[in-house]
Amino acid sequence: MTQKTITVLPGDGIGPEVTTAAIEVLERIAQKFHHKFSFQEGYIGGSAIDAKGEPLPEETKEMSAKSDGILLGAVGGPDWDHLPGAKRPEKGLLEIRKSLDLYANLRPVKAYSSLVGASPLKREKVEEVDFLIVRELTGGLYFGEPRKREEVNGEEQAVDTLVYKKSEIRRIVKRAFEAAQLRKGKVVSVDKANVLESSRLWRETVDECKTDYSNVELDHMLVDNAAMQLISQPDAFDVIVTENMFGDILSDEASMLTGSLGLLPSASLGATGVGLYEPVHGSAPDIAGKNLANPLAAIASSAMMLKYGFQLEKEAARVEEAIEKVLGDGYRTADIAQDSTGVVTTTEMTEAVIKALE
Ligand code: NAD
Ligand code: IPM
Ligand code: MN
Repeated sequence: MTQKTITVLPGDGIGPEVTTAAIEVLERIAQKFHHKFSFQEGYIGGSAIDAKGEPLPEETKEMSAKSDGILLGAVGGPDWDHLPGAKRPEKGLLEIRKSLDLYANLRPVKAYSSLVGASPLKREKVEEVDFLIVRELTGGLYFGEPRKREEVNGEEQAVDTLVYKKSEIRRIVKRAFEAAQLRKGKVVSVDKANVLESSRLWRETVDECKTDYSNVELDHMLVDNAAMQLISQPDAFDVIVTENMFGDILSDEASMLTGSLGLLPSASLGATGVGLYEPVHGSAPDIAGKNLANPLAAIASSAMMLKYGFQLEKEAARVEEAIEKVLGDGYRTADIAQDSTGVVTTTEMTEAVIKALE
């Protein structure tokens, strides 16, 4: 029996709907495999601003750090878009990633065979898609200083800073090489080394790290080309490693190879300690509160928690198989439906997954 305390941070928009789904799945897994998972809920994002006056209250940080795994929904929405950068909901998410040093964001992108028709790309392009985006999560433009608004010669300007230390690059790149050794042994490092100094350091560091991984094949690719190759030959990728902002953008693009942003899970991990498991998608204000959201990204994120956080491989596989089964059986939330017939709600999809766990 495994005993774990899981912090749930539902956040905003569809966050609460999809985390509820993931909790139900985890509860059923605990029951079936005789584990004990206890859940504690915390505030983050816009709902934390409303309840506590800040996007990441101290108590959320504390309970998260002390728990065995964190499951996050999503943060942000139009209610808080007028706030200055440091007070926005998104700041709460950035801060929890940074404070727990969760520098490695693993975003697997795998086509479900029963869903290849849901992608806007041709079936033969997407059916073999199976790669992992390893996104650096605590550096780059998201965290660089200075970051400011100022007036220069009577004109307003804004500054963001893209900075990477060599050690920050090294640790994420090692993670990517290690992941590749357990997969098809191919790493593509994505940068903009023809323009950016930080990318030139990135590329040099990747080459240095490569010497420790002679069994892994390495290619460098410029980010604009990578965005194109993700559409033209998505099945050629195995592991993609890249800096924070490029990884953010490329992963939303990659989601459409599988059919929907509502399918992609992620794990945000540090060197040791607690991990944060979060769907790639946001709070989807356009469909929030309507029982329309696809809960599979959040449910698949909970499978990543079982696997990477708790080393419960069998249990994680059971959840992944259940997702495949419901998709194979034709369950479709609106985002992955070919037409409006037989579309299921968030709760119906969740019930179907739970039934498929049996
Ligand atoms: P989004 O990911 O919330 O939504 C983009 C589109 O995808 C929308 O049409 C939405 O309805 C759809 N979508 C997303 N998740 C879905 C799901 N599970 N099922 C069905 N459809 C889904 O991105 P956005 O609209 O650019 O951002 C909205 C807010 O979310 C912003 O405040 C943004 O900052 C925030 N955001 C948060 C996170 C996070 O918390 N990790 C990630 C991205 C965006
Ligand atoms: C994501 C989101 C976040 C990011 C935002 C909400 C800060 O887009 O998790 O992909 O850019 O990292
Ligand atoms: Mn994103």
